Amino acid sequence: MTSSQLPPRRSSKPHRTVSIIGTGSYAPARVLTNYELEKMVDTTDAWIRTRTGISERRIAAEGENTSDMAVQAARAAMEQAEVHPEEIDLIIVATVTPDTFFPATACWVQKKLGAFNAACFDVSAACSGYLYSLEIAQQFISTHVYNTVLIIGADKLSAITDWTDRNSCVLFGDGAGAAILRNRPDSHGVISTNMGADGSFTDILVMPGGGTRCPITKENVDQRLNTIKMVGKEVYKQAVTSMFNAANKVLADAGLHYQDIACVIPHQANLRIIEAIAERTGILPPQPLLWLSTRRIAPGESAWATIFSWSSSAAASPGPVP
Ligand SMILES: CC(C)(COP(=O)(O)OP(=O)(O)OC[C@H]1O[C@@H](n2cnc3c(N)ncnc32)[C@H](O)[C@@H]1OP(=O)(O)O)[C@@H](O)C(=O)NCCC(=O)NCCS
Repeated sequence: MTSSQLPPRRSSKPHRTVSIIGTGSYAPARVLTNYELEKMVDTTDAWIRTRTGISERRIAAEGENTSDMAVQAARAAMEQAEVHPEEIDLIIVATVTPDTFFPATACWVQKKLGAFNAACFDVSAACSGYLYSLEIAQQFISTHVYNTVLIIGADKLSAITDWTDRNSCVLFGDGAGAAILRNRPDSHGVISTNMGADGSFTDILVMPGGGTRCPITKENVDQRLNTIKMVGKEVYKQAVTSMFNAANKVLADAGLHYQDIACVIPHQANLRIIEAIAERTGILPPQPLLWLSTRRIAPGESAWATIFSWSSSAAASPGPVP
């Protein structure tokens, strides 16, 4: 069969724009304060606040799994978007704490939502997971493969945190954020995106155990290899550089400058990292852009949660951001 005999490809249609039409978030009820952490490890509220800006984090209840939090956020996003479960064509869950390695957490979410027309898979990209899932979803919608995509960032990091390691345990928490994406014909939609990775730094933020490199054994668990290991200073340097470079790339692709931006929603747990990037961009709060951040739940979900709280507030009204 020659190429001229093949049926027309879906991607031969003009690309569509992709918009976020609904967002939702969920944070567990349990709040773990810095003062409580003082009783668990050798730290102080003052140290944590000064080094990270964090005062508290949310912790999932016993038996509350990643998919449970994901479903709560998804329902809120679906309600805002007025989307029914059977309309969803694809569910992507960005998580590093899946309910099970397989089936994907997206399948657990599908079952709980009753979204049985959807294809489902997980994305493992840690803190960048929501950006990865946004870009993946965008490809499917813009090329007419799917119309309605549910993306969720959800993590139960408390399950893989070493609560005896003061270097890392102060930073992590649990939560979920979700968005519904569709083509909105009269909207410019997502203008530019940028994904990246640097595999040469696989050892600075890692859970060494649990995969095939280091299977779960009693010895490995005794050494807490099934928890997060972090070289904080290195992560700090890489986070600042990578976020700044990625921001520059998306702006250049869009033909925009920092002065054109009304609102920046950084996806980052540490206020000092956000401040360092703000300084590099030369645009410091409070003007002209609004630096928003939610640092009270899992870092992986903070961006969606922030978008949700922002879009649910008066600041979401059309016109300039106050
Ligand atoms: C983790 C982080 C807050 C530590 O801040 P820092 O200024 O780099 O601190 P250092 O690692 O240099 O540690 C300084 C000292 O504080 C100590 N310290 C570390 N954690 C502490 C804590 N929770 N309480 C008190 N002291 C602590 C260290 O042991 C070290 O003591 P020493 O000088 O006697 O060895 C910072 O490196 C960071 O934010 N990194 C990025 C983390 C991140 O974004 N992770 C990804 C989240 S998704």
